[in-house]
Amino acid sequence: MSPNNLEPLDNILQAIGWTPLVRLNRIARGIRTPVYVKAENLNPGGSVKDRIGVEIIEDAERKGALKAGGTVVEATSGNTGVGLALACAIKGYRCVFTIPDKMSTEKVRLLRALGAEVIVVPTAVAPDHPEYYINKARAIVASTPGAVMADQHYNPANPEAHYRTTGPEIWEQTKGRVTHFVCSPGTGGTISGAGRYLKEKSAEVRVIAGDPVGSIYTEYARTHQKGEGFPYKVEGIGGDKIPTSLHFDVIDEWAFVSDAEAFQIARRLTREEGLFTGGSTGVNVKVALDVARKVDDPEAMVVTILCDTGERYLSKLYDDNWMRENQLLESERVTASTLLSGRRGDLPPLVSLAPGASVRQALNLMGTYNVSQIPVVEAKECVGSLSEGPLMARALADAKILDQPVSDVMQPPFPVIEKGAPLDRVTALLSRETPAALVREDGTFVGIVTRHDVLRHVAGIK
Ligand SMILES: Cc1ncc(COP(=O)(O)O)c(C=O)c1O
Repeated sequence: MSPNNLEPLDNILQAIGWTPLVRLNRIARGIRTPVYVKAENLNPGGSVKDRIGVEIIEDAERKGALKAGGTVVEATSGNTGVGLALACAIKGYRCVFTIPDKMSTEKVRLLRALGAEVIVVPTAVAPDHPEYYINKARAIVASTPGAVMADQHYNPANPEAHYRTTGPEIWEQTKGRVTHFVCSPGTGGTISGAGRYLKEKSAEVRVIAGDPVGSIYTEYARTHQKGEGFPYKVEGIGGDKIPTSLHFDVIDEWAFVSDAEAFQIARRLTREEGLFTGGSTGVNVKVALDVARKVDDPEAMVVTILCDTGERYLSKLYDDNWMRENQLLESERVTASTLLSGRRGDLPPLVSLAPGASVRQALNLMGTYNVSQIPVVEAKECVGSLSEGPLMARALADAKILDQPVSDVMQPPFPVIEKGAPLDRVTALLSRETPAALVREDGTFVGIVTRHDVLRHVAGIK
């Protein structure tokens, strides 16, 4: 029995937290490192966000920003809205939420059932657009007297809630044996707060972040550049701007997970472990299993989070038709990886050159392997590209360039996609100007796909 259930409670908010920590069994078969999941889906509002709803409201009360008759406004992917709506219901505040239209209808209905006003806004708008869900929420606060913005992306009370509760619970429930904490940031509150607490308890604890393919976080962690994201289907995690609730210094490693991998793992978790959750949990568990496999140590212990209940996704990842329409069913999916496997058997996985190689070597290589484009790679990054047509034309016009390094003549680098990227993403990326894209897996280039590969696949040519 969890400690907070030993006594009767004054209200439902007291039932938040002290969620069970459960071992994964069948899905982790063959992996020697134990993997445990913290069942945040069993909070009263069905998600990890119950913890921050009450914390943010009580913080605003303490600071005098929220008073009787006040309104709580938030931009939310759903779950924070539920956490806030629960706290508002008990404490008697009005609440208004803006929610992107990719979120499931179950979430919108649930928020309305809890008494919230919900404004659905488009998902596919840039972060500086007035209809972007965070900007829209700020505009509502500005025009409503007595309103406060919960502001989970920028409110220090969010990571603080997890530093005070989620982190200590994991430490106590594992009796200090946790060695790896895996979590996928949305606002970053959970990983930043719980991760910091665990690292303070033991400097040995490694914190690993999962990130949906399409989010800009991983690239930002690597380069400190805000790149361009693109839409993905997993809800609640990843992002297209950098929130201050996400503390990059707490995170040791990042791992990309595709929508398809996330949803397939979530479906298996339900069927094989009886853990009924959503796509963001699928990302967490995929990364946790990968980490556990790599660590390969029965004395280590990987802990991750079950973010929310699967009931919120019955019309999505638990609906075969929806999965099929979105090309997410395993047997029917075409990805960059499928295109790679359809390539000529006589080719090495990746023909590439260093920037110091000569133009002569480049043309030789193109001739030897009969390829018309080659990436220029240095220190695991693509720094440029060479295409046979323009290169040949320049060499014919001026033979002297044959002995120059390719760095003098190379064109812009090819774009990079993850191995699990779906066919439509690959197709959207390739054009006359961008004839090829590099395919990456776990931070390493594993191949190249070209417009010819896509065409061969679409035309059914073997
Ligand atoms: C379903 C779901 N999973 C995970 C998260 C991520 O948690 P955090 O915002 O603490 O990083 C969220 C956040 O909105 C969420 O809604």
